[in-house]
Amino acid sequence: MKCLIAGCGYVGLPLGRELIRLGHEVYGLRRSASAEAELTAAGIKPVVADITRRETLAKLPNEFDWVVNCVSSTGGSAEDYRQIYLQGTRNLIEWLSARRPGKFVYTSSTSVYGQTDGSLVKETSPTEPLVDTAKVLLETEKVLLGTSGPQGRSPQPEVPAVVLRVAGIYGPERGHGFKQFLNNEARIEGEGSRFLNMIHRDDLIGCIIAALKNGRAGEIYNAVDDEPVSQVNFFQWLAEELGKDLPPSAPANFEENRKRGVTNKRVSNRKLKMELGYQFKYPNFRKGYTAEILRLERAGELNVSPDRS
Ligand SMILES: NC(=O)c1ccc[n+]([C@@H]2O[C@H](COP(=O)([O-])OP(=O)(O)OC[C@H]3O[C@@H](n4cnc5c(N)ncnc54)[C@H](OP(=O)(O)O)[C@@H]3O)[C@@H](O)[C@H]2O)c1
Repeated sequence: MKCLIAGCGYVGLPLGRELIRLGHEVYGLRRSASAEAELTAAGIKPVVADITRRETLAKLPNEFDWVVNCVSSTGGSAEDYRQIYLQGTRNLIEWLSARRPGKFVYTSSTSVYGQTDGSLVKETSPTEPLVDTAKVLLETEKVLLGTSGPQGRSPQPEVPAVVLRVAGIYGPERGHGFKQFLNNEARIEGEGSRFLNMIHRDDLIGCIIAALKNGRAGEIYNAVDDEPVSQVNFFQWLAEELGKDLPPSAPANFEENRKRGVTNKRVSNRKLKMELGYQFKYPNFRKGYTAEILRLERAGELNVSPDRS
């Protein structure tokens, strides 16, 4: 297949490498010309363009079988999100309308679920995001799925889109809570009962490829591992594994959490596993972090700060 990866970065680059290994032809789009050498070394054909600037897309070759939009704003305001996710996706769809791909996969986020009661969340659960950035992601999903206009009809050209709602990504150089734990900066909020939902980068790559192959256009799938884990259980496991103390507790600040859009939910991957037939390499954080700790140890890069006594 001829594939385009828009946002060929943390996830996109190894995704491209894997697609090439599987025999596909891959183009990787990002803004930095400095990344060209890295993409080329991976066998990916680099395209320097900015999805928020429609005119730059003219550099892209015609006709792709598979398109993945995994561009990220790496933080930013709701307006940044609007430009990068919403307008960027609109530009891509418009550019693709004359050359409709076979499948378009978009990596949305589980932040579109605003639940704070620890409930089990499926793709059909209510989506009432707590923060404006997540509202933009939901709007982007609707544009792609053709349900953004009046009476749920899309004013945009249609693409055969599959939405993946992605949980917190961890893996090499990623994993905020893990890094905080290593540096003695982690805190357990209150009793630590809030659930964390995660996915290892390798599994996200597997889910994206499964969605390209088997995802049904117009469908949404949660991309998350098998086991939501409470914050306290996450740190307890790390503490035992690395021979460190449990992080101190800090009272949960509900007002601050509300402003930051902190949610508490257990996101289900049942639909993804049933319909896409994907088998997780790291079905829970213990498997994924065991691999990550071993990798760091072997590289001599596991820097564990001594406990403060
Ligand atoms: N991190 C998480 O836990 C998490 C959770 C849920 C969903 N997601 C989603 O998962 C996807 C993959 O995340 P990631 O960590 O791989 O992202 P990333 O590496 O931070 O960013 C992806 C790439 O997007 C490129 N990019 C940014 N703006 C662009 C633009 N306007 N036009 C073209 N390229 C642009 C960047 O390269 P240049 O700077 O060179 O352009 C970067 O290499 C994203 O869609 C993200 O929103 C992430």
